[in-house]
Amino acid sequence: SQLPPFKSRNSPPLVFHMVPFIGSTISYGMDPYKFMFTNRAKYGPVFTFILLGRRMTVALGPRGNDLILNGKLSQVSAEDAYTHLTTPVFGKDVVYDVPNSVLMEQKKFVKSGLSAENLKMYVEMIADETMQFLNRDAAFEAYQSRENRVGDFHCFQAMSELTILTASRTLQGKEVRDGLDKSFADMYHDLDGGFTPLNFMFPNLPLPSYRRRDVAQQKMSDFYGDIIRRRRADGSHEHDMIASLMECTYKDGRALNDREIAHIMIALLMAGQHTSSATSSWALFHLGAQPDVVEAVYDEQVRQFGRDDGTLAPLTLDGLRSCSILDSVIRETLRLHPPIHSILRKVRTDIPVPTSLSAPSEQDAYVIPQGHYVVACPGVSAVDPLLWSDAEAFSPSRWTTHSSEKELAEKDDKGETVDYGFGAISKGTSSPYQPFGAGRHRCIGEQFAYVQLSTIIATLVRELTFESRGGVPAQDYTSMIVLPQPGSRLHYRRRQ
Ligand code: HEM
Repeated sequence: SQLPPFKSRNSPPLVFHMVPFIGSTISYGMDPYKFMFTNRAKYGPVFTFILLGRRMTVALGPRGNDLILNGKLSQVSAEDAYTHLTTPVFGKDVVYDVPNSVLMEQKKFVKSGLSAENLKMYVEMIADETMQFLNRDAAFEAYQSRENRVGDFHCFQAMSELTILTASRTLQGKEVRDGLDKSFADMYHDLDGGFTPLNFMFPNLPLPSYRRRDVAQQKMSDFYGDIIRRRRADGSHEHDMIASLMECTYKDGRALNDREIAHIMIALLMAGQHTSSATSSWALFHLGAQPDVVEAVYDEQVRQFGRDDGTLAPLTLDGLRSCSILDSVIRETLRLHPPIHSILRKVRTDIPVPTSLSAPSEQDAYVIPQGHYVVACPGVSAVDPLLWSDAEAFSPSRWTTHSSEKELAEKDDKGETVDYGFGAISKGTSSPYQPFGAGRHRCIGEQFAYVQLSTIIATLVRELTFESRGGVPAQDYTSMIVLPQPGSRLHYRRRQ
């Protein structure tokens, strides 16, 4: 008999579904991009769908991204959305297990460990690991034998191995790199098995994988703890993230304790691993599908690093920074395949949606109620035909020749305000290109990821050409990160 409260009358439209609790779980889970475009056509840029009983409200487009990624702390919370997934994996007292102000300080500490000085040193180490991998891994037997120079490899598997090898040689430190040949790899495997959509949807299930995750978290935390204690005892100083974090103090003067350092290291390992290995895999598949682009990347290497005797000089950070074609290959890969397709926040207090996003008049405007999750899908804006020319095509040259997109890239890099033609834009939160997110939760690993990706890709292109015989694989959305369909292989040929 009571009228529904005003806000529920103004809730965003709910995507039609047949089964109450399941809602749109299957169609969203199978292909989130198709789901978003289909429902935007039906309901507009703001709509709600049911994901295993949770109410998820999507806000699409640059303004939608801004609404969510630039949301006030009192309105949207990342920790409320993620902590049940991340804290059992990373450990206590870091990232989403602490108030946002503490996370902001922890991100600053990590940023200081990613200094230009360190990144410079990392290029040579990553190139060296990549060459060792090519000369050792069974998949590259044809490369090693030099006779039949043609072979193929499981691309994502190889890139996963190479990513963890290079990240541990650089950021993670030599003890982790040595441990990869022994115990560390097993711990990592079990921990990673606890970082899945199932863990997100059901934080506590009595399954063996959940138990293995907890055991691995404890062991890995102890492993890092031992490294820190040993380093404190013998006074050694490395150029990696552990060394840098050991020097950091919070604003109140307290130093990071050993557990916090250990757990930040685990968080960085998890944050960088699948994101980077998926990105290098997608880049190689696209290179394999467009031989002219591989040759353009190779020719650029010759222009930047070629020596009089016909050989190529070793890669350097400054040299890589001048490789605009390589850079645009990575940019374009991340436009078509951002590893994270949905960014979530939990709604703490009702969020009014501006009329420009939701409705023709103020009276009809929506309110996203407390208790919903909000979902930003920057990847949708990045392939939206309304915003990009030839949106579906892999076209690295759009970043170097189309002046508007080049300007966008340059300004975004500097964190400057850009007007893309759809109104006042600020702080990058409403850019249509956000593979690294935006706002206070924006990625701090971007520069490291670019160094790692460009060094790996340049090293491989110097040695090999590629061929994606089955075309570029379809996207698989069943894990936390958008991956190439399982089993996708790439052919290679050793250069003369
Ligand atoms: C945050 C993407 C590599 C560390 C993020 C976010 C995105 C992202 C989209 C925002 C998440 C959100 O708003 O909820 C990527 C991509 C990568 C990459 C595409 C590689 C291609 C890395 C690496 C590291 C890293 C290598 C560590 C060295 C972080 C951290 C955050 C973050 C600490 C902050 C989380 C927060 O503030 O809530 N990343 N990332 N990422 N990333 Fe990355």
